[in-house]
Amino acid sequence: MPFPEVRPRRLRRTPALRRLVAETSLEPRRLVLPVFAREGVSEPIPIGSMPGVVQHSRDSLRRAANEAAELGLGGIMLFGVPETKDATGSCGLDPDGVLNVAIRDVVGEVGDALPVMSDLCLDEFTDHGHCGVLTPEGAVDNDATLAVYAEMAVAQAAAGVDVVGPSGMMDGQVAVIRQALDAAGHQDVAILAYSAKYASAYYGPFREAVDSSLKGDRRTYQQDPANADEGVREALLDVDEGADMVMVKPALGYLDVLRAVREAVDVPVAAYNVSGEYAMVEAAAANGWIDREATILESLTSIRRAGADIVLTYWASEAARLLRG
Ligand code: PBG
Repeated sequence: MPFPEVRPRRLRRTPALRRLVAETSLEPRRLVLPVFAREGVSEPIPIGSMPGVVQHSRDSLRRAANEAAELGLGGIMLFGVPETKDATGSCGLDPDGVLNVAIRDVVGEVGDALPVMSDLCLDEFTDHGHCGVLTPEGAVDNDATLAVYAEMAVAQAAAGVDVVGPSGMMDGQVAVIRQALDAAGHQDVAILAYSAKYASAYYGPFREAVDSSLKGDRRTYQQDPANADEGVREALLDVDEGADMVMVKPALGYLDVLRAVREAVDVPVAAYNVSGEYAMVEAAAANGWIDREATILESLTSIRRAGADIVLTYWASEAARLLRG
């Protein structure tokens, strides 16, 4: 009997053989680009903690959206950075608020060629930085926040968005948003629910990206990183409430949750490769400690392999160009 009898290396010998047996593929259509629209600027502003990412002006946002469409990306996810914030985040409801304007601009630019998605949350708009409105004692008021989310969803739908992305982790948010959208005649606007969203230190750079003034933390509404089963429960709840797609966030530290959610639901599953995950790779690469492009593609492939149909990543456009070769 020759030894070894089984030689897995046979199928790794050439690039063509490796391509033949690859279990996971990464295509531009799987990638969604998150972008920041900043009010009142005529030039894009770099975000120090996220090298290569900017707060967009209206013009630069349109250009980024066009480029995303040309690259065949899966979508673009819009975040707003307003000039002024208040306790209830009223800018999010204002049809002329920065995010709603950005939705109209981008939809006007790309039409149906690129799905346009919007963050549906209050943290970018509140002066205290929490994802909801507060009780007099300073707690995040779940049910009062739901009423605001419902209005916000309708405002975003009226601006022309294809998909809303509720990310505030309020209980019942998907059901309330679905109901409000339907009642306003927006039956065709889809919901991408941030279902298993963890209270993560990996969101650090994002706070700079949206000029967040948050003090304290979000642990009374975002999930404890210790819990995986709870992430599945949250995803099932959201599907039950009418989510068209669910998301796990962050991605790389939560690949087990992603796999478990993938196995539990029958809707498309997204994962968000968040700001801190981006910043770590960029920082290491800037120091020459890591091969930047290889690490980007390996990270995104790993997220796909774990079960994500869709990956939100700040590298979406660049990765699409790398994949095209
Ligand atoms: C909340 C929201 C956050 C992110 C996306 N949506 C911040 C938070 O929950 O604290 C983080 C994204 C990232 O870190 O890249 N609207």
